[in-house]
Amino acid sequence: MKTYIVDLQKIKRNRTKIMHKMGLIIRNGGIVVFPTETVYGIGANVLDKDACAKIFKIKGRASDNPLIVHASGVEMIEKIGKLSDTDKKIMEKVWPGPITIIVKARKNIPKVVTGGLSTVAVRVPKNTTALELIRSAGVPIAAPSANPSGLPSATSGEHAEEYFNRKVDAIIKDGRTRYGIESTVIDLKSMTILRPGAFNIKKLEGITGIKSKNPDFKKIKVARSPGMKYRHYSPRTPLFMYSGKINELSKAVEKLENFVVIGSFKFCSSVTIPKNKKIVITTKGINEVKRNLFDALIRLDKMKARFGIIEIFKEQEDDTALMNRIRKASNEKVFSDKKTLVKLLNIGETK
Ligand code: TXA
Ligand code: MG
Repeated sequence: MKTYIVDLQKIKRNRTKIMHKMGLIIRNGGIVVFPTETVYGIGANVLDKDACAKIFKIKGRASDNPLIVHASGVEMIEKIGKLSDTDKKIMEKVWPGPITIIVKARKNIPKVVTGGLSTVAVRVPKNTTALELIRSAGVPIAAPSANPSGLPSATSGEHAEEYFNRKVDAIIKDGRTRYGIESTVIDLKSMTILRPGAFNIKKLEGITGIKSKNPDFKKIKVARSPGMKYRHYSPRTPLFMYSGKINELSKAVEKLENFVVIGSFKFCSSVTIPKNKKIVITTKGINEVKRNLFDALIRLDKMKARFGIIEIFKEQEDDTALMNRIRKASNEKVFSDKKTLVKLLNIGETK
């Protein structure tokens, strides 16, 4: 399939015309990869069940893992979801923004979008290009994160192109995304966080006046948010978290070869390995780590290393999204000394 690729940061004119064409592609049942403020999405007209089914096929996504529907405003969402007055009040305060809200689904939504649930996940993204695409399509756009199922989400136009060239109708490249991790998913009725993400929970609690619940996902047998049970955000290269002291890392990796270290400058500098085996993901702080994380994981896979080691970052009570992604990316595998690492490596190599 020939993919129509446009890099909005490189074109000098015709943006409106191009975006109009992209909207038409969606409207006519095509698939368009586009940027949002969190990660790139792979989108289709929500009302077109065949188009939405294509997304599952292209991503290799399990059919019981529902899609997030993107709209340009609350009015558009009312066409596909039943909203209470409280829902609307909160939506007006948090949108556009990186937060996805679960609402009751109207009958017109194809089952393929909701995975057969009676609810639908919706959000209004805070990204000019995404909003322009939705407006130009004139319909809400169902879009999961742009990545083959299980792999890290695309956070740049380059990632989007590498993953989906020749697999979708069009790709809109527009630089790196602002947050770098996906939206927070919340069930407002029970104030349960179904997925920690880019929207700060304390801020949401301030708006709703209700304390949120953060379930222990490991203990829940039936997944409230179907996507939480699947492997996620993982590079193909085995990745391990290091929980020991920074100055003891070099001892833990003594005599081991061909591995990559991912973390802060200090973390990466603590081992004597070639420069091209280190990925410094921050010099500034936690938000920069989030923004660079998926890019680092995608780069790791290109380095053909035997394994990767990633730093554990200190998390705040209201900001658990980064470590949530790192834990999933490393499949919860953690070491603090050489013995554990070697043991993990034997497991890691049969992965
Ligand atoms: O930032 C984001 O949210 C990105 C951009 C593209 O908007 N999208 C994204 O979509 O991360 P996806 O499909 O990768 O993740 C959607 C999550 C999954 O965990 C899914 O199970 C959950 O939302 N979800 C969707 N519909 C749901 C529903 N009705 N009830 C509970 N969880 C739902
Ligand atoms: Mg995803």
